[in-house]
Amino acid sequence: MDHARYDKRRYPIVDVREGYAEWSRTYEQTVHDEMDVRLLERLRSVDWPRVRVALDLACGTGRIGAWLRRRCPEALIDGVDMTPEMLALARRTGAYRALHVADVAATGLPAAAYDLCTQALADEHLSELDPLYREAIRITRPGGAFVIVGYHPHFLMAGVPTHFDRASGESVTIRSYVHLLSDHVKAAHGAGWSLDEMDEGLVDEAWLVKKPKWDVYAGLPVSFAMVWRRREAAR
Ligand SMILES: C[S@@+](CC[C@H](N)C(=O)[O-])C[C@H]1O[C@@H](n2cnc3c(N)ncnc32)[C@H](O)[C@@H]1O
Repeated sequence: MDHARYDKRRYPIVDVREGYAEWSRTYEQTVHDEMDVRLLERLRSVDWPRVRVALDLACGTGRIGAWLRRRCPEALIDGVDMTPEMLALARRTGAYRALHVADVAATGLPAAAYDLCTQALADEHLSELDPLYREAIRITRPGGAFVIVGYHPHFLMAGVPTHFDRASGESVTIRSYVHLLSDHVKAAHGAGWSLDEMDEGLVDEAWLVKKPKWDVYAGLPVSFAMVWRRREAAR
């Protein structure tokens, strides 16, 4: 579903590439670890130190790659993103073996190449989830996992799209879609994934310390994490 029907901010809407090219300048200062890293830290079903080859889908500036670098010390980590300006910053982290400009739904990477795929804070920009889950299972080896962390659909439905402030001070939204959690389950099951673990993060005290204006959203779910396992050959 297009986010427009829920949008209470009504900022001008820009496409993904244009938006992140511009947001790349300030992205790291505006995205808080409470959104995604806190959920990653709580996951129990992923044996991080045993990961040897990982792919960070929609890796952006490399926040998750840097986290993986610490949690999976033996791993070679690749990254994919469609915005070259974000990838240029990811390169500077030194966390990645290789970085590719590509769509998460068509990476062009070899089949069954990765023990682990991750994707953080990008599914709301995809109009459809099926192609993402199909591509992720194609490139993950049997027994491997896909960890997806997302901006919670309930938070999007509360009216707050993914947005940033331009250098001029104008706020703009990056085109967003609402995918219910059940949409994830349907798309993932359709591609052949099994759910190992799931978690959700609420707007709590830790959030309010960083974003006092979010008092009006206190208690709402703001992000989610799912660990999908490839049990069999991809369909
Ligand atoms: C909010 S950032 C998340 C970056 C990083 N994963 C993090 O957690 O900080 C979203 C990223 O998704 C990328 N993106 C969005 N749609 C994409 C697509 N279809 N294929 C590849 N990258 C995409 C954007 O270019 C942007 O870098």
